[in-house]
Amino acid sequence: MNPVKAVIFDLDGVIVDTAHYHFLAWKRLAKELGVDLTEQQNERLKGVSRMRSLEIILSLGGITLSDHEKEKMANRKNSWFVDYVERMAPEEIFPGVKQLIHELKGKGIKIGLASASKNAKTVIQLLHIQNEFDAVVDGTMITHSKPHPEIFLLAAHKLGVEPKDCVVFEDAEAGVEAALAAGMKCVGVGSSEQLHKANKVISKTGEFKISALEEFQV
Ligand code: BG6
Ligand code: MG
Repeated sequence: MNPVKAVIFDLDGVIVDTAHYHFLAWKRLAKELGVDLTEQQNERLKGVSRMRSLEIILSLGGITLSDHEKEKMANRKNSWFVDYVERMAPEEIFPGVKQLIHELKGKGIKIGLASASKNAKTVIQLLHIQNEFDAVVDGTMITHSKPHPEIFLLAAHKLGVEPKDCVVFEDAEAGVEAALAAGMKCVGVGSSEQLHKANKVISKTGEFKISALEEFQV
């Protein structure tokens, strides 16, 4: 039996509720475009890149924009998101996450971060957890959005661990698909209906008991 050698965390919605700030900012932009973005539709925006998210909203409204206009809209949404995030306190990290990371490290398990967000480094600095990770991969380092496995494969490479020995924590359907496509195991964080493809689903990251990692030994 091969023990799990690394755990790779998504950020938004797994470590902190920045997924909600993304939603608020997209909803505000969508409203300006005449689209009433629902929480259900927002599920499709989770885990994918900023531009891909905008394109999904535009397609919901049947709207066509030039590349220049799209760039302006995406920047606008990002400035609102950054405003929300800059007001965030380190205490907003989800309960139990730091303890989970420390317990994993105590077992010799490496810790990675794989977030599609270009703001990921800012967010982990604001939460004072930037030194907790053995490797960080963010949206500035990848070409393909989740559900493409690139982000997780790069994280495993940086950690020096084979994909099959990694477990990913993800709140986005696209993220679960990306982790599985990378040949990793995946713990879904959220609704078991939405994340049914994951190997295991929990409702909150802090609920995870590290003894459950045994289920993922190969
Ligand atoms: C992901 C979020 O982590 O990052 C998405 O789940 C977001 O909702 C994406 O669109 C890109 O983030 P950013 O900060 O680069 O716009
Ligand atoms: Mg997420």
